Amino acid sequence: MNPITNPFAPGAGTPPPELAGRDELRETVRVAIERVRLGMPTKSVLMVGLRGVGKTVLLDRMMEDAEGRGIQAVRVEAPENRSLPAILAPQLRKSLLHLSRNVQAKDLAQRALRALAGFAKSLKVKYNDIEVGFDFDPEPGLADNGDLEHDLQALLETAGSAAQKAETALVIFADELQYVKEEELAALITALHRTSHRRLPVVLVGAGLPQLRGRMGRAKSYAERMFDFPEIGPLSPEAAKIAIAKPAKERGVEVTPEALDLIVKRTRGYPYFVQEWGKHSWDMATVSPITDVNVKDASEAAIAALDESFFRVRFDRLTPAEKEYLRAMAELGAGPHRSGDIANVLQREVTSLGPVRSKLISKGMIWSPNHGDTAFTVPLFDEFMHRIMPGDDWKA
Ligand SMILES: Nc1ncnc2c1ncn2[C@@H]1O[C@H](COP(=O)(O)OP(=O)(O)O)[C@@H](O)[C@H]1O
Ligand SMILES: [Mg+2]
Repeated sequence: MNPITNPFAPGAGTPPPELAGRDELRETVRVAIERVRLGMPTKSVLMVGLRGVGKTVLLDRMMEDAEGRGIQAVRVEAPENRSLPAILAPQLRKSLLHLSRNVQAKDLAQRALRALAGFAKSLKVKYNDIEVGFDFDPEPGLADNGDLEHDLQALLETAGSAAQKAETALVIFADELQYVKEEELAALITALHRTSHRRLPVVLVGAGLPQLRGRMGRAKSYAERMFDFPEIGPLSPEAAKIAIAKPAKERGVEVTPEALDLIVKRTRGYPYFVQEWGKHSWDMATVSPITDVNVKDASEAAIAALDESFFRVRFDRLTPAEKEYLRAMAELGAGPHRSGDIANVLQREVTSLGPVRSKLISKGMIWSPNHGDTAFTVPLFDEFMHRIMPGDDWKA
């Protein structure tokens, strides 16, 4: 098929031609946001799942859905090593400036901008990465204690009051939340607890790796009750087939049932892989329909592309000791694995491997589904480790 019109879109955060299998969750989040707008009790939603399952694109779609209904969205992404106040302040400012153009909300929005000025000035000492423009002078005593937990609460309360006046809701869409430090998560949880208590229209829709759930619980023990943690996993076979067949059909190209079955089998329904196989199968076929032979022929190119991008970017950030640890995990299969078993493969003591394991967790490479268990955060990473470090001579 013509590569120029190839609809498939592998890539972190790249919107798919068809967002398959997520309608139910989109509806759940729509209901949650609309309830919050009305001041009804509602839980924040934190979507957790492995790399490449489609959290970012789903979050973005939910945000578009919400903005289309007049919701005030605040979009943030937590990179490693940046503070939550630093990523939140500029985005919140944008929303507040927007709200300040609403006649009814103007005064309260301006007050919230004063709170933001106090917030940024007083926290700058501790979080020196805060960079935000000041539109108004701070109001003494408003969100300017210099204590994140207190000031974030005051800030979200004033912002929430402005949103309420504008008959909208302030929805924080936050990606990669597992990178936020526990004390900053704690402040966010407290602030949301407060706004929800006051029935102010502020809610969080977040996404992160599976370790996020545990981090939230450790940050504040009551977090588990305040949040829903829907798991985002691979697509059902049915949804994966729609993800391929529908965009193709819209471009006048059919895909045989055997081809769809084979794509499901090779990708196991993981969205990133579905896009990669879709893309290469399309390029491989010369005429419609795309057949299972085309899919078979495309597999090598699809795997090579994944190795070069999806897997590779993660692998390249690792130290030799971390690579060895992951290779030892791969030796045992897909996982999860007991720490003791991994140590056995490496012929080391479990305790001596503790630091490497912690570092891998903080880099978002592995997580612990249960105490003493270790699992990859990237689907099929075990197979990649075998390809990139083949044979037996990888042990130091
Ligand atoms: N529901 C879906 N249907 C089809 N493709 C999807 C779906 N969700 C995500 N994708 C594709 O999967 C890839 C990874 O999506 P992304 O949102 O970056 O995952 P994550 O944030 O979980 O790592 C992208 O190429 C995207 O187009
Ligand atoms: Mg993502």
